[in-house]
Amino acid sequence: MADRPKILVTQKVPDPAYPLLKAIGDVEANMQEGVIWPYEELLRRGVGHDYIYSLLTDNIDAQFLEACAASNPRLKMVANMAVGFNNIDVEAATRLGIAVSNTPGVLSDTTADLAFALLMATARRIPEAERFLRAGKYTGWGPLLFCGAEVHGSTLGLIGAGRIGKIMAQRASGFEMKVIYFDVYRMSAEDEAKHHMEYLPMDEVLKQADFVSVHTPYMPSTHHLISTRELHLMKPTAILINTARGPIVDEKALVQALQNKNIAAVGLDVFENEPAVEAELLKMENAVLLPHIASASLQTRTLMATMASDNLVAHYKGERPPNILNPEVLQ
Ligand code: DGY
Repeated sequence: MADRPKILVTQKVPDPAYPLLKAIGDVEANMQEGVIWPYEELLRRGVGHDYIYSLLTDNIDAQFLEACAASNPRLKMVANMAVGFNNIDVEAATRLGIAVSNTPGVLSDTTADLAFALLMATARRIPEAERFLRAGKYTGWGPLLFCGAEVHGSTLGLIGAGRIGKIMAQRASGFEMKVIYFDVYRMSAEDEAKHHMEYLPMDEVLKQADFVSVHTPYMPSTHHLISTRELHLMKPTAILINTARGPIVDEKALVQALQNKNIAAVGLDVFENEPAVEAELLKMENAVLLPHIASASLQTRTLMATMASDNLVAHYKGERPPNILNPEVLQ
C-alpha cells in the first residue's frame, strides 16, 4: 500500500463521506456549502493530488486530467459523487491511466420519486396555483380555477428505460397509467411484461404519450435528442419532463414549442447550460423549474457520498472499486 494519499474533495458533501477518506489519506476539502470552484480554481487546486472526489459541477476535461497526470503526486482516480459522469472525459482518463467511478443505483428510487412529483406538479399546476394563492389572488373556489391535466389513466412515455425509467413505470402503475417506452436497448418480452412496459419506436412514444419523461444518460448520441422535430410529434396537450441531463433537450426549441403551443407544459430539473436557464422559460407559468434536486434526500445523498468514498478507498487499497467505469486502467 502506498503512503497516505492526497485527496481533494471539491464541494461540501454529507459528513459520513469524510472519515472514510481521512482514515486512509490527507484530505483537502472545499467546506463552503454552495460554493462551486470555477474551472481555473479547480485546475489550480487539483494538481498535486492522488485522488479527486468530484461532483457533477466539476468539468474534469482532458486538459484538467493531463495537468493532474503530469503533477507530483500523479492523479490516480476521479471518484464522482453522481451516477451521471458526462462531466468527466472518461476516454482521456483511460488514456492517462486514471480510474473513474460513479454512484449508480442508490439514487434511482429517489430520482424517480422526484420525476413523478414533477410530473404531478406540472400536470396539476401546483406551483402556479400556490403562487396565485400566496399573491392574495384566491377569492373563492371556481369551477375553472386551475384546471390541469389528468394523471391517472393517462399514457406515460419513457425515453430511456434503465434503472430510473423502470422505477418510473412502477410509480405510474399506482396511477393506472399505460407505460410505453423507447430505449436503444429493448427489454426482453418477459421483462416488458414484468414491468408493464410496451416498447415502441421513439417517434411513436412521442406521438402517443400524454407525458414524455426523459431518463437517458447524456452522451454525444443523446445531445438534443428532443428538439424541434420531436416536440412537433408530441400532442399539443402533452407534457415533457426532464430529470436526466439538460442538453438532451434543445432548450431553445423547447421555448419555441411552448410559445407555439406545440406542447402544453414542461417540468425540468435539469437545464442545457446549468445553472443558467433560458430567460423565456422563467416567464412561463406552464414551466415548472427545479434546481437539479432529483436525488436530493439527505438519506440518498449520504449513500451517494459514502459510495464515492468507498470507490476511492477500494482503489487505494488495491481492490477493484465497485463502481469503476474504466476497469481497463486497473492492473
Ligand atoms: C446524478 O447523480 O447524476 C444526478 O444528476 C444527481 O444526483
